[in-house]
Amino acid sequence: MKKPNMNEARKRHNNSEVKYTSYSVNTTKFGKGKKYYVRTYGCQMNEHDSEKIVGMLESVGYKKSEDIESSDIVILNTCAIRENAHDKVFGFLGVLKHIKDTTNPNLLVGICGCMAQEEVVVNEILKKYRYVDFVCGTHNLDNLLNIIESKIQTNNQTIEVLSYEGDIVENIPVVRESKYSAWVDIIYGCDKFCTYCIVPYTRGSQRSRKKEDIIDEVKKLKESGYKEITLLGQNVNAYGKDIYDDYNLANLLKDVSATGIDRVRFVTSHPWDFTEEMVDVIAENDNIMPYIHLPLQSGSNRILKLMNRRYTKEDYLKLYDSIRSKVKNSSITTDIIVGFPGESEEDFEETLDVVNKCKFDGAFTFAFSPRENTPAALMKETVSEEVKMDRLHRLNEVVNKYSNEANKKMNNKIVKCLVTSLSDKDKNKVCGYTENMKLVNIEGDKSLIGKIVNVKITDTKSFSLDGIYVK
Ligand code: 5AD
Ligand code: SF4
Repeated sequence: MKKPNMNEARKRHNNSEVKYTSYSVNTTKFGKGKKYYVRTYGCQMNEHDSEKIVGMLESVGYKKSEDIESSDIVILNTCAIRENAHDKVFGFLGVLKHIKDTTNPNLLVGICGCMAQEEVVVNEILKKYRYVDFVCGTHNLDNLLNIIESKIQTNNQTIEVLSYEGDIVENIPVVRESKYSAWVDIIYGCDKFCTYCIVPYTRGSQRSRKKEDIIDEVKKLKESGYKEITLLGQNVNAYGKDIYDDYNLANLLKDVSATGIDRVRFVTSHPWDFTEEMVDVIAENDNIMPYIHLPLQSGSNRILKLMNRRYTKEDYLKLYDSIRSKVKNSSITTDIIVGFPGESEEDFEETLDVVNKCKFDGAFTFAFSPRENTPAALMKETVSEEVKMDRLHRLNEVVNKYSNEANKKMNNKIVKCLVTSLSDKDKNKVCGYTENMKLVNIEGDKSLIGKIVNVKITDTKSFSLDGIYVK
């Protein structure tokens, strides 16, 4: 058994290697005739990791199951970013226990992802959740099949979590959710250590993939019909810093754009690492989409400092204005935390002030949630739950007003959409995303799926647009 250790996770090792050969497809096909169910929590990185989990499971014969009751293995790919992510996973584990106790006693239950990297979580699983069959950390995901096989052979609860980052393993099989839009990892981990954030501990130090491997992957995706790729990282703007002296995200964006793939996206951006050169590359290349997710977190310089965000409100606004003025039809969204320890009403009003200045296209807003072993968890919480909820509510009202306004500006325009699937709302319609990442429910038939088409916007809502396909 290997358990996580948060003190070890704090250290930076920086000796990861790129491995092209260490992942070997297990030849025993121990999943033949069996079914899997994978549930994903959290960010896009996790969504893509789940595509790797599925790729590995299918490589040994497992097939997808639509429901848990008829599955042989259920894997939860977890998120640790806030307490409510924990609660959802532990709640679902209760459901799985019931299924194991009643209808499906042979069901294997496994936990992967960021929660697997947390010492407290693993200790709790060892004490209270003995029916969890295996735990596999983020740093050794490539070893998942061996962990499952060992569980099957020994029938012991199998826990394998490394506290330090593993190597970059390039050839893990992937089964992608979409045939048109693909995730492409460019950098793993994070070295920013924002004081509230658990990611630098659960995902380790920042490690960039080699540019050749990324560009190769994009070329192959394009050849197999993909229209859009999204470059992924906790902080994509730090790309290259750990392995190159003179090659950064701006260079990578240019090279990826030059592959000729229709659409290039990237998430998530950190304002501190976002250079003017990057803004220029986004502005100058038509296939780099004008959508930027640029987390603000707080508008108060005092709180930004306590958060260790490394920029001021003024720096943020300068970058924001530069993007808005250079990138045509840009849309910018953000993340904001309210109720950080020490946040006063004045600090919160500074945040509202930035929101009023920026008029974001959208914002993900959160109440501060202390995370195990992070510096902010040791700070004295000064904002009551009630005040946090009140600020969240007030913030959301302002945020929604601006996202509505931004959507309204698109009314009657003809825009390009990549149609990705049938609409969730109305199965007689399809849906897709505009270049600036607005979801559109489109009147049009399913032959449009997978194509980039012109759509006339006919109505706008808070979180989506309606449109009609035009030739
Ligand atoms: N509490 C609340 N929100 C958090 N986030 C990260 N850590 C915390 C925390 N401890 C938010 C940040 C980040 C987003 C992914 O989640 O806004 O950008
Ligand atoms: Fe967390 Fe900050 Fe890194 Fe984002 S940049 S993953 S918020 S530490």
